[in-house]
Formats: sequence, C-alpha cells, structure tokens
Amino acid sequence: MICARIVGTGSHLPGEPVTNDDLVRRGIDTSDEWIVTRTGIRARHFAAPGCKSSELALVAARRAIEAAGCAAGDIDLIIVATSTPDFIFPSTATLVQAGLGIGNGCAAFDMQAVCCGFVYALSAAEKFIRSGSHRRALIIGTEVFSNILDWADRSTCVLFGDGAGAVVLEASDRPGVRASVLHADGRHHPALWVPGAVAGGRVTGDPFLRMDGQVVFKFAVKVLDEVVREVVDLANVPLGSIDWLVPHQANIRIIQSSAKRLGLSMEKVVATVDFHGNTSAASIPLALDCAVRGGRIRPGQRVVIEGIGGGFAWGAALIDF
Ligand code: UT7
Repeated sequence: MICARIVGTGSHLPGEPVTNDDLVRRGIDTSDEWIVTRTGIRARHFAAPGCKSSELALVAARRAIEAAGCAAGDIDLIIVATSTPDFIFPSTATLVQAGLGIGNGCAAFDMQAVCCGFVYALSAAEKFIRSGSHRRALIIGTEVFSNILDWADRSTCVLFGDGAGAVVLEASDRPGVRASVLHADGRHHPALWVPGAVAGGRVTGDPFLRMDGQVVFKFAVKVLDEVVREVVDLANVPLGSIDWLVPHQANIRIIQSSAKRLGLSMEKVVATVDFHGNTSAASIPLALDCAVRGGRIRPGQRVVIEGIGGGFAWGAALIDF
C-alpha cells in the first residue's frame, strides 16, 4: 500500500514582531491586557506593503524542500492554501511553481478553506499520493491577512498576522498521514467572511474581514474536540497514543478548551498563537515547523492537526512522523 509521509517542513514570518503595545502606539483603541487576556496573543508579524502571499510561500517552500533533502524539480504536485491569493487568478500555486523554477509541468492549484485550508490541502495531497498518481507534494499555507484587515475594527484587527508554512509529503511504504476528516457547514458563512468581490472594474461589497467572534468561538469549542476524536477513531489508534496536538492558532482559550475536553495536558499541545497571532491557513504549518525545528516533534511521534475557519470549514488529520 502506498502511504504519504511528511519528510520536510519549513516556514517564514515576515519582518519584526509587532507587539500589542505597538498596535496601541499605531492608534488602535485596545490594550495589551485585553488582547492577552481574551486571546493569548502577544505579537504577530506583518508583511511589508505590496508583499504577496507567494513571496512568503516561496521562502517557506524552499526551507521545506531543503529539509526534505530533495530538489524543487522532484515536486510533482503543489497545493497552496490561502484566502489572500496574489491575484484573482492565476492560482498562487502556479506562481510558487514558477518562483521555484519547476518546469516539469506538475499540477498546481489553490485550496480555499480559510483557516482550515492546510488541513484540507494535506488531506487532498495524501489522497493524490495514495492513489499512485503523484509521488511528492509541496503543501503550503500562506497569508497576507493584513491586506483584508479593517484597522478601524479593533475586534478583528488585533487578532491576525501574516506568514507561511510548508511541508513536503512523499510516497512511502511506511504510514505517515494515517487519517483525515473534513467538514463544512456553509449556513454559518456570515459569521466569518470577507463579503466583497471584484466586478465591473471595482470592488463591490466590503473588502474587509468581518467576524462575529462569539459565534465562531462557541462553534470552535463545540466541534474541535469532536473532530479530533473522529480522526483518532478513523485511524483506529488510541487517543492516548497522540504525542502532540497542533491546533489552528486563533485563540489560546479555544486551544486550552479543546485540550481539556480531550483530556490532553497542555504539555502535549503546540501553541504559537502568542507570538504568531492568527495566520489563518498558515497557522498550522507554521506551528508544525516551529515544533519540528525546536526538537519537540521527533521522528516516530504521532501528531494530530486540527482547524476551523470561515464557512465554517473544519477538519483534522492524524500523522505519524
Ligand atoms: O481563525 C478563525 C477562527 N477565529 C476565532 O477563533 C475567533 C474566535 N473568537 C474569539 O477569539 C473571541 O470571540 C474574540 C477574542 C474575538 C473576542 O473575545 P470576546 O470575549 O468574545 O469579546 P467580545 O467580542 O464579547 O467583546 C467584549 C468587549 C466589548 O466591549 P463591551 O461591549 O463589553 O463594552 C468589545 O467592544 O471587548 C471590547 N473589545 C475590545 N476591547 C479592547 C473588542 N475588541 C477589543 C479590543 N481591545 N481589541
């Protein structure tokens, strides 16, 4: 049986950290105390004006490819998860392909599942590899969320940041991604969205992120431990065999609540929200790369990733490293 293993990770955060006090100094009506107490966020990174998602993705991708010990030309599938693509089209994945100098004509496309985009992309890539049609996939979560933040809306602009994370997923005879579970319920889309579009040569509607924070919070707390249990059951392994939970990094209170409901100690949870903020599709691969490079996630260990975002779309994957 063909399995799909993660053989390299990489990430990139642009510029210097922007602290909560820096936001206050920039004129946002907030405080370090409010942001830390409600979210656990202490800092985030913002890309320079004009910087595109593909530029962040390229740095993360090069690092993941180097860690995998392969050449860019060995990649035969590229999936980029993003809600802040460089352009309406072509896909950011094709721009990454060109930036990496991959001229082998491999498939490249974007995945839109907002903050759950990386879980969706990994799950899709695993199926491509397991089918035998592809052997080495580059999966990237990348965002310049600062492009869609309304700096006059303090209830959202303090929460998000920019960044990118990537993995190389390779065909193997040893199990890697053992199971994944994806869900969506589009009835909730007005709770978290950017209700704008481009038509007739101008932006129609609202081009900024809008969120009903409490609705998202309650839904996340309700489904995240459920989806972890579901993926663990699907993989047919005990919950106690999980070495690390790598959740989407939106709010430390959501992360702590899911860990508690799962009976997992916070020692087994990778939390980077304090210094990354919420980087949407980039948050899970960023956290994964931090934990791998920091020596916490080691070969032979079992990891569950989980996330939820606009749609709502949510999911989880169980991965043996
Ligand atoms: O990645 C997608 C997933 N997204 C999420 O998971 C986000 C989920 N939601 C949350 O994390 C939380 O709902 C928030 C952190 C967004 C908000 O926390 P909350 O405890 O639900 O606060 P709230 O929205 O109920 O606001 C409480 C108060 C309000 O003041 P009043 O009306 O009680 O006087 C807000 O105006 O806090 C005020 N407030 C702020 N104060 C200082 C809202 N934003 C800020 C701010 N600084 N930045």
